[in-house]
Amino acid sequence: MNRKYRKTIISGNWKMNKTASQTKAFAEELKTILPKTKWCEVVLCVPYVNIPAALKAFRDTRVAIGAENLHAESSGAFTGEVSADMLKDLGVKYVIVGHSERRWYGGEDDLAVNRKVHAALSAGLHPIVCVGESLEQRNLGVTGELIALQVKTALSGVPADRMRRVVIAYEPIWAIGTGENARAEQANEVCQSIRTVVRKLYGARVARSVTILYGGSMNEQNAYELLAQPDVDGGLIGAASLDAEPFMAIINASNQGE
Ligand code: 13P
Repeated sequence: MNRKYRKTIISGNWKMNKTASQTKAFAEELKTILPKTKWCEVVLCVPYVNIPAALKAFRDTRVAIGAENLHAESSGAFTGEVSADMLKDLGVKYVIVGHSERRWYGGEDDLAVNRKVHAALSAGLHPIVCVGESLEQRNLGVTGELIALQVKTALSGVPADRMRRVVIAYEPIWAIGTGENARAEQANEVCQSIRTVVRKLYGARVARSVTILYGGSMNEQNAYELLAQPDVDGGLIGAASLDAEPFMAIINASNQGE
């Protein structure tokens, strides 16, 4: 982290977990242990149907609510889909774009991710753009090139003044839900390479201020070391965000440095 230049973000990604009632119960518990965190932005990305319950439960807190996906079009005949304007109108601040599970199950490619990034930004949302390599790709030694291509394509056409709202999340696919997190130096190496790509595209000032998260089996045991890395500006947390205590422990682990 480098809190002098950029925001630290600890974000949960609940995936397809919890009902609205369980969302309310989680919020009650988290609120009792959540200090008035100043050192990081706390975000919870929840299933669409739980967004109203989450917004209501966290109304008077510092917890921002995010969605896990959106549709690239602003409206129209897209049965079952949700647009950026609908999310914004509810009071949603963040939206995950291009999570590897959506790339895999939803068939989203880099171009689709780029369209969704534009849709999110046009509506005033903060996209959390996910990139990451599979184990096969890592073993082939193409991680750097692959991540660079994912980042460049996702950000294609995004002007520099909108980059203030863009968050990038490095999530190696082999580390998601496996209990096998990337080593801190591995995570930092890729996050640093992402910052280099952003620097080439937008210059040093934007690169220095962009928040880059790590995601993939982050938990209360490994969070401190991962977050101590200079280019890891926070976490995107799946399983460990489903219970208030481990999530809180990760929020506390981000309270380090100046
Ligand atoms: P886990 O923390 O469960 O590995 O999930 C990470 C993730 O996919 C967050 O988006």
